[in-house]
Amino acid sequence: MPDLSTVTNGRILYGGDYNPEQWPEETWLEDVRLMKAAGVNSVTLGVFSWAELEPSPGAREFGWLDRLMDLMYENGIGVVLATPTSSPPPWMGHLHPDTLPVDQDGRTEWWGGRQHFSHSSATYRRYAAAITEDLAARYGSHPALTMWHINNEYCTFDWSDEAAARFRDWLQNKYGTLAELNEAWGTAFWSQGYGDWAEIHTPRHAHYLKNPTQVLDFRRFTSDMLLECYAAERDIVRRATPHLPVTTNFMPLWIGQDAWRWAEEEDVVSVDLYPDPRDPLGAQQGALVQDMTRSQARGPWMLMEQAAGPVNWRGVNHPKPRGLNRLWSLQAVARGADAVCYFQWRQSRQGAEKFHSGMVSHAGEEGRTYQEVKQLGAELACISGEVTGSHTANDIAVLHDWHAWWASAQDGRLSSEVDHPDLVKAWHRALWQAHLTTDFAHPEHDLSAYRLVVVPQLYALTDAAIENLIAYVQNGGTLVSGFLTGVADEDDRVRPGGMDVRLRELFGIRTLHEWWPLDAGEGVECDGFRGTLWSEEIEKDEESVTEAAFKGGELDGLPAVLRKGRAWYVSTLPEPEALRGLLGRIAADAGARPVLDGLPDQIEAVRRGDLLFVLNHSREPVSVEVPGTHQDLLTGTAFTDEVTLLRYGVVVLRS
Ligand code: GLA
Repeated sequence: MPDLSTVTNGRILYGGDYNPEQWPEETWLEDVRLMKAAGVNSVTLGVFSWAELEPSPGAREFGWLDRLMDLMYENGIGVVLATPTSSPPPWMGHLHPDTLPVDQDGRTEWWGGRQHFSHSSATYRRYAAAITEDLAARYGSHPALTMWHINNEYCTFDWSDEAAARFRDWLQNKYGTLAELNEAWGTAFWSQGYGDWAEIHTPRHAHYLKNPTQVLDFRRFTSDMLLECYAAERDIVRRATPHLPVTTNFMPLWIGQDAWRWAEEEDVVSVDLYPDPRDPLGAQQGALVQDMTRSQARGPWMLMEQAAGPVNWRGVNHPKPRGLNRLWSLQAVARGADAVCYFQWRQSRQGAEKFHSGMVSHAGEEGRTYQEVKQLGAELACISGEVTGSHTANDIAVLHDWHAWWASAQDGRLSSEVDHPDLVKAWHRALWQAHLTTDFAHPEHDLSAYRLVVVPQLYALTDAAIENLIAYVQNGGTLVSGFLTGVADEDDRVRPGGMDVRLRELFGIRTLHEWWPLDAGEGVECDGFRGTLWSEEIEKDEESVTEAAFKGGELDGLPAVLRKGRAWYVSTLPEPEALRGLLGRIAADAGARPVLDGLPDQIEAVRRGDLLFVLNHSREPVSVEVPGTHQDLLTGTAFTDEVTLLRYGVVVLRS
């Protein structure tokens, strides 16, 4: 099967989304000159070009794209060709209103923006297949073509009548009979029993709380429908070019797609990543997404989009200070990226994203943004030969699962303060700040290669996942879990006792009497730290040990941190420093070590293959001990035992 190495050939891909249809042809020549000077070797064409390619139903305007494909080839720049299906032309919605999605209040999402397509619309799918067929036929053998990019950031929901019809098919396929569905959805509650499939609709606006299992199935259905759209286009391009890889770009930790499932359908896993330059935890947010994407890819992955400067979709959009684009790009490489790409090449002068940065900003060639992009291109070229294709095994895995997230992200819970992604971020942050590098894994994956498995929260778990966790500990692994794990089964049915009995036994919990959620900003004293967000009234069994207890209040003396052998359970969210300390201790006991000892805060060290990346996330110079004599592959500078990293500095060493 083709993969990212089919395209990289020992080079890190460098470039980005190129939207030349926004510019006169003279600018294309200027673009090519600047791309070559910056070491750009890959551009993504056609992401939003449907109206240009098909200006009226069935018409084809390929001339401009022919010229561009040739221009790229003549200049040694590979093309990742996108199917333009994320933004249908206005004529489609106008002629075929059935292609437009409908929100849960029954309102149509009109054209005039983007992503106004119904994943369930047969008409949309027919047009999408036709343009994909024609693109594949026309450019499949073009020498510039290196990879296919299907659609863009699949993220739409649809509550329309056509989606409802497909939802019914999907449910029939899943449950077979209405009796099964009624049982799984618990429709005995509130008189919701279905007597005919035709009675079932998408979970539209309702007077009060919706059936949670219906909502959960609707999320599963939505992910599956989008995946069907992706797979249909992928299969078309694959037939034309079986030797070329296919991808679609994920949004990080996006609720709408089960990315574990999707990644299996891709030849290259790619992601778009936009941490806020002002966020003190921006680097950690980046590291989390990079770790997750590498784990989904099970190897090198593609940073499909990042911003060279500001984005335009936050309330206040800050530029990247000098050096930050380089630092975060090299961080992605350290964590497995073999492609460093941007949205977009040249900043637009018109349209909704004209204040979103490009590799070439409004300031043009002389602007700092392009100058830094150019310098980075040269540096990536220096290390690409030794980096690409390499992969490093980690000792720690953080578990994450979309179905558990979906089941937990519902109204009618004990606390709306508990947010699944926030918990994943908090636990990953603790590991990152303890300088421990981690993979992500699905709870049903083979975990045997890891010394430590960390579960921030998995509210709903299948029996297979529970058995997997138990077997992992029985076979010598160390497991640490946060609260609200194993509460429900895959239908969101609460397990007897409020937590699966096998897991209670594993962690040494005899009875989980009550959950005691905390208010926003409220804390609970525990031995040696403060807990936040949540607490629990737990009665331990004889074999478990209370490692830290709640102090004072109703839960005085009850376990905040409980351990039974190698299984740890944390019934609150310790404040960041405490969680870092706790995970650092548990990891050390499990034999998982940081990449380097004694690292200062703000310094990140990551091993990739035979290389060691050391990154300074602060604006101040920091000295770091690195035993031995080394040469920085980026600058050629040699040093012994200690290296001083300047503001946002990075060194790449052979280790
Ligand atoms: C996404 C899209 C791009 C662009 C950027 C802006 O990642 O894929 O087309 O809109 O956001 O940040």
